[in-house]
Amino acid sequence: MKLWTGRFHKELDKKTNDFNSSIRFDSRMAKEDIEGSIAHATMLGACGVIDQKEAERICAGLEGILADLESGALEIDPEAEDIHTFVEAELTARLGDAGKRLHTARSRNDQVALDDRLYLRKQCGMLYGQIKELIEVLCKKALDYKGAVMPGYTHLQRAQPITFGHHLMAYAEMFQRDLARLKDAAQRMNVCPLGSGALAGTTYPLDRAMSARLLGFDDYTHNSLDGVSDRDFCMETAAAVAIAMVHLSRFSEEIILWCSWEFKFIELDDAFSTGSSIMPQKKNPDIAELVRGKAGRAIGDLTTLLSMMKGLPLAYNKDMQEDKEAVFDAVDTLHMCLTAFVPMVDTMKVLPENMRKAAAKGFINATDCADYLVGKGLPFRDAYKVTGALVAYCIDHDLTLETLPLEEYQKFHALFAEDVYQAISLDTCVNGRKVPGGPAPENVEKEAQRVLALM
Ligand code: ARG
Repeated sequence: MKLWTGRFHKELDKKTNDFNSSIRFDSRMAKEDIEGSIAHATMLGACGVIDQKEAERICAGLEGILADLESGALEIDPEAEDIHTFVEAELTARLGDAGKRLHTARSRNDQVALDDRLYLRKQCGMLYGQIKELIEVLCKKALDYKGAVMPGYTHLQRAQPITFGHHLMAYAEMFQRDLARLKDAAQRMNVCPLGSGALAGTTYPLDRAMSARLLGFDDYTHNSLDGVSDRDFCMETAAAVAIAMVHLSRFSEEIILWCSWEFKFIELDDAFSTGSSIMPQKKNPDIAELVRGKAGRAIGDLTTLLSMMKGLPLAYNKDMQEDKEAVFDAVDTLHMCLTAFVPMVDTMKVLPENMRKAAAKGFINATDCADYLVGKGLPFRDAYKVTGALVAYCIDHDLTLETLPLEEYQKFHALFAEDVYQAISLDTCVNGRKVPGGPAPENVEKEAQRVLALM
């Protein structure tokens, strides 16, 4: 039975009903819908809008429905228009008239705005926990490899020496910002739209603060039109998810590079790698690739929401039913990615010898060589030029700055002395980069401990 039968002479066309309905994807909010209804009924009873005893029966009935859904005794009717309709119809089937009073002073418009918020608030909390776990894994690994020298890159060209720990902590920074964004989104969505009605509030003397309090909200929404037509919280959640997915995707890209034979900086655990059906030697980083691929999906979800909302007049429009599939997909995607990604990173084998070998080639200590001359009094620009010429000479003669004899050095500048070898050693280069935020092992240690203490 449709909710709006009074004005209509016909049932909605069967296939059109499937098109119009949202039960396929909003039934996952059954628990939140019921919790919202319990709060609403409790408030209606307390305010005397409905009889106190009847409110109690409604709440008990709703709790019974929730228990039956959870035990499997009750199944959601796939023919129902949406979860709100289903729960109300079931309540009415169980209680008769009392069930019909639940929807007093409420519309599905404020109801769905409420359910969305309740559901996403929970999901943000879940993602928050998973990202926190990832940051902890990164900090612990960073501590293990705080002294593992590797080449840092710009333009994917070896640039300057860093430590693997420092590289991992760069991701810990990104994921901390993701945590902050999720927290921020969850906090801003934490206002209760109940009482907004369809769009224009209600004439019933509701205690909106009570409903808000019962549901753990910080406040109620302060404009009934905005209360039912705001989906900022969906967009903000999807934006936070999309940015986090971009971070995971960049990290995945590096993991994919690092486990190639060209790099071999890490090896993924067998439990997080796949093989080839034809090439017996292959070990593929499918999980990282899939995460990188799914970033596109999360970006798509955000785009869906932004473009769905951009032309909507106030207040509720049915377009907004599309909020759920997009934002749920975004949240599910990040959740699934993190579920595989966190243990993949946790179990990966790090190969510091290979990192060091790579760091030894590519003249990544050239800046330090120039700085050595600066230390002896040469202006940096001149030192830069001398070192550039040295590098060109080494390349032509298949030498490195470490293997170039001192007499050769001195042909380029008289300031070079025996201590140049110490100055350009990779460990000197890395250990000296103690500037706050720099890659020196002592910094990595401090930063990793600082971040761990925040988690
Ligand atoms: N299923 C709808 C949605 O998800 C619920 C709100 C329906 N309201 C309405 N006026 N048709 O948005």
